[in-house]
Amino acid sequence: MALLTIDTTVKLPSGYEIPQLGFGVYQTYDASLTTPCQTIQLTIMYHPGRQRTRRDASPRPSKPAIAMHVGPSILTTDCLAQEPSTDWTQIDSAAFYKNEAACGEAIRAQSSVPREQIFITSKIPPPAVSYQGTAAQVESSLAESGLEYLDLVLIHAPYGGSANRKGAWKALVEAVEAGKVRSIGVSNYGVHHLDELEQHIAELEAERGGTGKGGVVSVGQWEIHPWCPRNDIVQWCAARGIAVEAYSPLVQGTRWGSPVTQRLAEKYGKSEAQVLVRWSLQRGLIPLPKTVTPERIKSNADVYGFALTPEEVAEVETSEYAPVCWDPTTSTLDECI
Ligand SMILES: NC(=O)c1ccc[n+]([C@@H]2O[C@H](COP(=O)([O-])OP(=O)(O)OC[C@H]3O[C@@H](n4cnc5c(N)ncnc54)[C@H](OP(=O)(O)O)[C@@H]3O)[C@@H](O)[C@H]2O)c1
Repeated sequence: MALLTIDTTVKLPSGYEIPQLGFGVYQTYDASLTTPCQTIQLTIMYHPGRQRTRRDASPRPSKPAIAMHVGPSILTTDCLAQEPSTDWTQIDSAAFYKNEAACGEAIRAQSSVPREQIFITSKIPPPAVSYQGTAAQVESSLAESGLEYLDLVLIHAPYGGSANRKGAWKALVEAVEAGKVRSIGVSNYGVHHLDELEQHIAELEAERGGTGKGGVVSVGQWEIHPWCPRNDIVQWCAARGIAVEAYSPLVQGTRWGSPVTQRLAEKYGKSEAQVLVRWSLQRGLIPLPKTVTPERIKSNADVYGFALTPEEVAEVETSEYAPVCWDPTTSTLDECI
């Protein structure tokens, strides 16, 4: 296994690179919104001037040079005063999360941070899964975020029927060709949906003039953790070089105290959350832990000072199929919501 660091990236079929650790922002709200949900404070630390490829050669700044804020108020004094231990450069958002504007504002606010060193994802919500709907949603996400391009856009779920999924995919392919989106993919697709997507890509190639005209699947995103490892889907993607993102990698906090992770946490002097993130990284996944708690923002990325053995990686995984989130992978090809 190659040495993993906070700067480790995964090369995508599109040719672009994605940081292997991402920050989930579901239920992370712009503090200015009057939502009934809790007001969230999210901080993404970033050190300008740091060259990704020369990280070890340049000393770490003693204070965060930039606190990238999602939302207008953010970041507590305590958090600012501490030595930052994290550089989150990948953000997993979605139209459904209602925080594309705040994420975009955070990125745009930092004029000294090269845009290409931040990787932002959005997703097409189920009601927009159609050709027209997806084309309009891409425009809406760009307008909301105020960004010139999105790094990755995923179809959030495989609902809407075959013709609409093909139309949505075609709209994403056109968005890539127009330079509005860099990489595209899907989320929550079952293997039957993925097989259908391959067929759609072949059809689009025939209809649109040849190889590549059907688009390239760069990323798939699923709920994946030791209690829902989804090996069939992971293997489907691995066979095609598609990067796999793991959402709910902390099982939404529902499995603390499980004997194996607890024992490994004690062995390595780490938290169970850190063991789960590390498991995900060592499986070659791209985990997207979500937290709004400043100390967890740091600790969830402080996972590079230890390594599970191959035996421990295998031991952590269970044979359970126990998703904690929604599970559209099991929906039929005709299902709508
Ligand atoms: N494509 C999809 O359909 C889909 C679905 C679900 C999620 N996602 C993506 O995946 C991201 C993560 O998934 P998720 O939010 O469902 O679950 P998760 O990351 O597994 O868990 C988040 C929960 O764990 C808590 N937590 C975080 N770090 C912790 C730590 N070190 N110790 C103890 N508790 C900790 C958080 O609390 P605090 O925030 O209070 O710290 C929050 O309650 C989302 O934000 C979203 O970007 C995608």
